Amino acid sequence: MSDNLHQLRCFGCGARIAGTDAQPDFRCAECGDLFEVEFPGWMERRGTDRPNPGALKWLWRERRCSSEALDQSGVWRFRELLPILDNFGNAVTLREGNTPLYHLPRIAKSLGIDQLFAKHQGMNPTGSFKDTGMTAALSVAREREFEWVACASTGNTSAAMAAYAARAGLRSLVLIPEGKIAWGKLSQAMDYGAVTCQLKTDFDGCVRVLTEIVRQAPIYLLNSVNPYRLEGQKTPAFEIAESYDWNVPDHLIVPGGNLANSSALGKGFRELKELGLVARMPRISVIQAEGANPLVRSLAANRGASLEPVEAHTRATAIRIGNPASWRKAARVVQDTCGWCLDVSEAEIAIAKAEIGAEGLGCEPASAVTLAGLKKLRAQGAIGGGETVVLVLTGHTLKDADYTIDFHRGTLLTVEETGGPASKISAEIEKLRRNAVVVDATTAAVFNVLKGQVG
Ligand code: F0G
Repeated sequence: MSDNLHQLRCFGCGARIAGTDAQPDFRCAECGDLFEVEFPGWMERRGTDRPNPGALKWLWRERRCSSEALDQSGVWRFRELLPILDNFGNAVTLREGNTPLYHLPRIAKSLGIDQLFAKHQGMNPTGSFKDTGMTAALSVAREREFEWVACASTGNTSAAMAAYAARAGLRSLVLIPEGKIAWGKLSQAMDYGAVTCQLKTDFDGCVRVLTEIVRQAPIYLLNSVNPYRLEGQKTPAFEIAESYDWNVPDHLIVPGGNLANSSALGKGFRELKELGLVARMPRISVIQAEGANPLVRSLAANRGASLEPVEAHTRATAIRIGNPASWRKAARVVQDTCGWCLDVSEAEIAIAKAEIGAEGLGCEPASAVTLAGLKKLRAQGAIGGGETVVLVLTGHTLKDADYTIDFHRGTLLTVEETGGPASKISAEIEKLRRNAVVVDATTAAVFNVLKGQVG
């Protein structure tokens, strides 16, 4: 018996095709839009394929005690809600998912929001949320007997793809923008054995080149236009709902780059609601960097009817994306859930990142936009002190150590970005900076440093 119950539905024109009929670039042959995975059997109320919510809640929790690889994965543990493979035995897993949901006590206190949590997707095997999507889509590639997989990336997708491809014994091709990704991520692609090309362009340029390549060669595209990636990336929504005993937080705040993650989490919560596992959806807000904010602009200019690409600039290199592929899906999620979409400055990102570090968690710069966005929403009165808020931290702090060191050395931001040494921003930064000092190798010298810290 096949485990496969899905078909693909075009997000633009609604055309439906079998999963195996998708074009190599995953664009609809009719209208050029992206596909979404759907499960027709779920619609029939008494259909035999419609999952039973009570039984699933029990089964998914039971699996956490299992020693089977698939059960230990925080993605495949929920496999009844991602029947995308003919045989679940083809799944390639590194035991991704099951990431922690941390309380943020100090930030919660300073913002006057008691119930403030971080879902830390950086605690995945390759250090980012991409692992949840990669286990799903790469398993499809293996089942369909591809030898090569490829992605264009700002770094994390390539790290995840290279790792999962290596586990599956597939070859992988990575296209990254030269000089514009964090070293930690580049080193991962090399370590896991990918063929890595640094192209003299930006992320959007890498996507253009790769789209041509997959049209000409039998290479399986693993960018997030691949709808199976989103199936894996929807599972943190299940984990979050499960941790609140099948209630949902009032707000979920997600960084926005290529806009697949916000789309996927929205899909996850929507499916839980449709299947009767939760009663409502959280408000989902997407935060972008000021210099890479095409969705913010699109929603402000025309309520998401069209999107004008921008030339992207931000030190949060993971989200340095000017022409996001999944913008229509993400716009729908923000609108359907009554969330917000806003942008934050380079200084706001840097400060938020240091504050998350000071909670003993840390994250990469792109993840910190969530806290920077929350502060703005709180200041605007959009989020109340009694509400429950979950920030999705997408990447591990070690991904981009250069950024962190530059911040603490005081060399990260320009005078224009901080407003000069006497500004409020500079004062906030000075409070958070913990530069490493060089001292003589004597107890007296070290005590001297400590004296400066007391009080
Ligand atoms: N945070 C991190 C750490 C990321 O790596 C990315 C995207 C995002 C947020 C944004 O997620 O694109 O789904 O809106 N990184 C991609 C990559 C583009 O190639 O690794 P998104």
